[in-house]
Amino acid sequence: MFDEIVNRKGTSCAKYDALETYFGYSDLQPLWVADMDFKTPDVINEAIIKRAQHGVYGYAKPSTKTYNLVKEWMHKRHSWQIDTSWISFCNGVVPAYSAAIEALSEEDDEIIVQTPVYFPLFNSIKNNNRKIVRNSLKENNGYYTMDLEDLKNKITSKSKILVLCSPHNPVGRLWKKEELEELAKICLENNLIIISDEIHADLVFDKFTPMASLSKEISNITLTLNSAGKTFNIAGLNCAYTICENKEIKEKLDKELAKRELNSINVFGFTALEAAYEFGEEWLEELKIYLKKNIEFTKNYLSKCNSKVQFFEPEATYLLWLNFKNTGLKHKEIKNMLFEKSQIALNDGRSFGVEGDSYFRLNCALPTSELEKGLSKIVTYF
Ligand SMILES: Cc1ncc(COP(=O)(O)O)c(C=O)c1O
Repeated sequence: MFDEIVNRKGTSCAKYDALETYFGYSDLQPLWVADMDFKTPDVINEAIIKRAQHGVYGYAKPSTKTYNLVKEWMHKRHSWQIDTSWISFCNGVVPAYSAAIEALSEEDDEIIVQTPVYFPLFNSIKNNNRKIVRNSLKENNGYYTMDLEDLKNKITSKSKILVLCSPHNPVGRLWKKEELEELAKICLENNLIIISDEIHADLVFDKFTPMASLSKEISNITLTLNSAGKTFNIAGLNCAYTICENKEIKEKLDKELAKRELNSINVFGFTALEAAYEFGEEWLEELKIYLKKNIEFTKNYLSKCNSKVQFFEPEATYLLWLNFKNTGLKHKEIKNMLFEKSQIALNDGRSFGVEGDSYFRLNCALPTSELEKGLSKIVTYF
């Protein structure tokens, strides 16, 4: 099923159709933006087709079933008992994040982010006129951990929010329960709200722990952002949700979402979300096996070809944080070679923060045969 090569060109998809816009070249093999080249499961496609056959597409609203499916998903996949009243729907995790920054802090407040990280998580801080405070992750032989001493030193009276990316994009860490507990302890001691972006929570190769599930106290300071977009490759349907037990935080967020008109969702978004959470588990298990296989394939391929490119096997996500430091080349030289010689499109590590110098992010969620083509273009030059 995942071996099928789907021609995505000409479908208004950013990954293939916007190469010229983003990279200045149109003939690159796209191994960048975080969506998959696999078809979404049949159960979702069928539900969308059935809904389309109805023929009327008026304004959409989540039903009791939608709320219950999110609740059940959290319980069965992540052992987290949530209440319907904690859930809000919106049209994307990033829009919800941006609204949350505005709702939960004031202009010039400090928001702490653990870089390198998915770039909208710091861009939105700047765009909302808040101050970005970087708490860089520590790297040891490709394995990243949180620098909690640095975090403590960076907290001031202006610090309002700690942004957590869990699991972490791009470094692929699946944070351990103990790491999350230590982080939360610091946030509790310093009155910081935690915004936890858990969009990659289902794409994990071990047990995932939602931050807010750790204790009632932690739940009370945490706003969780999530969606079925990454898990089931339905990001283009723009349906996400937030989970928050703290009524005051939730009300502030809901007000901001309404102010920005972000709480009206495409009817197909709800249809896909419901089908995914009701019937998609079997497909998800198969997907994870395939992704793990592709990650291992990449590792073995680079090693077999004595490539200078290294990466640490991610504990979550299909995103590989490739380290080009051993090539001895400057970041710009690597970038030019990737585009002009290898002719592949990877995400530029620097867009995830200064820590991303000499790194590029590769998306391995594609048929292994296509992945092999991309890797062969890398090893020829690196
Ligand atoms: C950590 C993280 N958060 C959010 C998003 C995007 O979420 P959405 O498309 O729902 O705005 C991505 C997409 O790559 C991501 O990696």
